[in-house]
Amino acid sequence: MVTATGACLSLYLYCKSLWICYKSIGWRGKMEKPENVCENRCMAPFDEENYLVARTREILPGACLDMTELPHCRTISLYLLNQAYPQLELSAKEARRLMEEPMFWIFCWASGQAMARFLLEHPEWVAGKRVLDFGCGSGVAAIAAAKVGAAKVWASDIDPLAVQATTLNSRLNAVSVEVIGDWSACTEAVDLILAADVLYDSANLAYLDRFLKRAPEVLIADSRVKDFDHPPYRKIGQFRSTTLPDLAEPAEFGVVNLYHAKVA
Ligand SMILES: C[S@@+](CC[C@H](N)C(=O)[O-])C[C@H]1O[C@@H](n2cnc3c(N)ncnc32)[C@H](O)[C@@H]1O
Repeated sequence: MVTATGACLSLYLYCKSLWICYKSIGWRGKMEKPENVCENRCMAPFDEENYLVARTREILPGACLDMTELPHCRTISLYLLNQAYPQLELSAKEARRLMEEPMFWIFCWASGQAMARFLLEHPEWVAGKRVLDFGCGSGVAAIAAAKVGAAKVWASDIDPLAVQATTLNSRLNAVSVEVIGDWSACTEAVDLILAADVLYDSANLAYLDRFLKRAPEVLIADSRVKDFDHPPYRKIGQFRSTTLPDLAEPAEFGVVNLYHAKVA
């Protein structure tokens, strides 16, 4: 039986994800998309890419994945949604389909790119450490940590396609990352947890304290939470960044704050 509270909560979550999807894809209600706009680019060097391209197209017809060099982290390339796609329009049916399977991993979010840049420029934060990237999406932060000498890197995401994408992107960047679903699958000691752009879902705020029970240090990159105040987390930097492909989000979401917390 569905209670009134349950129904309201479902409606709230439904509207919220709908808003995120519509914003993400630039939905304008009606569409006319070219078929097979990127047939050639989607030919893959890896089986995983063919699989991901096929699944992406099931959810977003006409979309494809481009090997994209990150403008703020030129040593990292990721398979991301092709640049032109966010300008196309989706039918209501397709938007619904995307809402059921929101593919965050087809974007490198502004916070993920800012976190990766910070690690590439400050390898001492991860060198020799066991690092876990929570909500890895495309795997951008995990890949940066592995590139600059982390002793071991896990990348965790509850979306099975994000797990596949991070596996593919790690191979593309020739780094070793152990990709897992739920973060509880990592049972070894962890020195540092990274989390970029996961606080858009307020349910994830509860992880801020859980992280500190699991690892002595945590780095959070976020552009969504206003007036973040969660001791012992403290702001250690602010960066301008963009989501790729560019979603033309309001400028405020391109201002990424980096927060650090350490177990006393
Ligand atoms: C906006 S994306 C950010 C991805 C990546 N960190 C970046 O910055 O590009 C958020 C990701 O967090 C994942 N996520 C959300 N809640 C999670 C949870 N409780 N455990 C693991 N992953 C989660 C989502 O599936 C999604 O891939």
